[in-house]
Amino acid sequence: MQNKLQLPAVMVIFGGTGDLTHRKLMPSLYNLFYQGLLPDNFAVVSVGRRDLTDEEYRNQVKESIEKFARFKLDEELWNKMKEVIYYVRFNFDDDDGYVHLKEILSDLDNKYNTAGNRLYYLAVSPEYFEVIVDKLDVHKMDLEENCVRRIVIEKPFGRDLASAAYLNEQITRVFKEENTYRIDHYLGKEMIQNIMVMRFANSVFEHLWNNRYIDNIQISSTETVGVENRGGYYENAGALKDMVQNHMFQLLTLTAMEPPVNLETESIRDEKVKVLRSLQPVTEKFVRENMVRGQYGRGEIGIHNIKGYREEDRVSPESDIETFVAMKLYIENYRWAGVPFYIRSGKRMANKTTEIVVQFKSLPKILYAKDMDLQPSLLVIKVQPKEGIMFQFNAKKPGTGNQIVPIQMDFCQNCSMENDSPEAYERLISDLIKGDSTLFTRWDEVEFSWKYVDDVTRIWRNEKTQFPNYAAGSWGPEAAHELLRRDGRQWWLV
Ligand code: BG6
Repeated sequence: MQNKLQLPAVMVIFGGTGDLTHRKLMPSLYNLFYQGLLPDNFAVVSVGRRDLTDEEYRNQVKESIEKFARFKLDEELWNKMKEVIYYVRFNFDDDDGYVHLKEILSDLDNKYNTAGNRLYYLAVSPEYFEVIVDKLDVHKMDLEENCVRRIVIEKPFGRDLASAAYLNEQITRVFKEENTYRIDHYLGKEMIQNIMVMRFANSVFEHLWNNRYIDNIQISSTETVGVENRGGYYENAGALKDMVQNHMFQLLTLTAMEPPVNLETESIRDEKVKVLRSLQPVTEKFVRENMVRGQYGRGEIGIHNIKGYREEDRVSPESDIETFVAMKLYIENYRWAGVPFYIRSGKRMANKTTEIVVQFKSLPKILYAKDMDLQPSLLVIKVQPKEGIMFQFNAKKPGTGNQIVPIQMDFCQNCSMENDSPEAYERLISDLIKGDSTLFTRWDEVEFSWKYVDDVTRIWRNEKTQFPNYAAGSWGPEAAHELLRRDGRQWWLV
């Protein structure tokens, strides 16, 4: 969160021909270049296993930029940018490949004055994380006097606590924690960064941000897509590991944390970790009463007939993997004691939306509330697809009667101008170049969230599921609605 200088560097992308590189990384690099936000001394080397020349690779990148970048491709700019993009082919476990890469990098240092600085980006599937880190170590590409060497690890960071801890050990054996950037792309989203600004730059919110005034908080991320072509991965993950362990817990910690002592990276991360440490412990009773899992069956979204999860490619026809999770949890500290946090995430739901709804406590049943059912005041932080903040409160309906109706003040950040919000990856790559790791996860955050998720998974493993239990295109299993209904509440859809 501090203003830091950009590092002259060569960015080395392992997995240069993969989906992530083409859909997100290259378009984001182009967006940064377009805005003049890349360092003058900068180059990119993509490593992949396909046989391509620099020219062929650049042509593929150009197509991806045309398809996925938020700024239209400008030929003149692209002709400049493509000059700093290179492609190298080798298998990630091939020693000769690293020797060759090292030579190329040193030539590029001379050509672009990048001073031996490296940003290694592991956009590969997790089974290659360890081998790449190991080879960088063996070939002494991890450390060099007076040079900066950073590594970026994509998700998933482990499959459970034990595998995440093992992976972390392998990485930190070679790269220091301060040079290790664990991606959670939700942290790069505009409105998620805005949570802290809203809370800590507005007296009207921060003073009310506690159990005295807040009734409950709902954090919801629903998607209309299914598992797409990732059935193989998803069968070993499920919604709890795929979304809750990382993205949803990040939203939770930013919403619930105490004000940090300053805006430095470690101060913010310290406060986020405290939230995870204060979560109500997971017991069998807790899981039975407060957690709902679901799996989509056949259904309809718009005019399309959708197949059930068990019919998806590379998914077992008897799979009991959850594609939906809803939960209610408490944060056991003075600020939040007694305030339920409801979390929900699911695939193949009726709508794509990520939002945080803060429901304020209702007034006593006197004056207007005596005879009328007044709607509660709501503050909604809209993360996507619309980005903004909505405040709902009650006002008199114009006219001669005394009717009171809820009205909404709606600030939409991405409605007025096209292309005005940066892509999450733009912000994250830009921070990586500056050496600001605030929007990346620290090991202890990962550790606590995996511990929590492992505890739940262990309990779930012993309980039978009755899947599928919600239709594609719906709002999830009935039990998820019941979870709030029995508390006299409802999921808000605003
Ligand atoms: C990824 C998950 O981390 O986040 C996907 O693996 C999910 O399953 C995606 O679809 C959602 O991201 P976004 O930015 O579309 O909300």
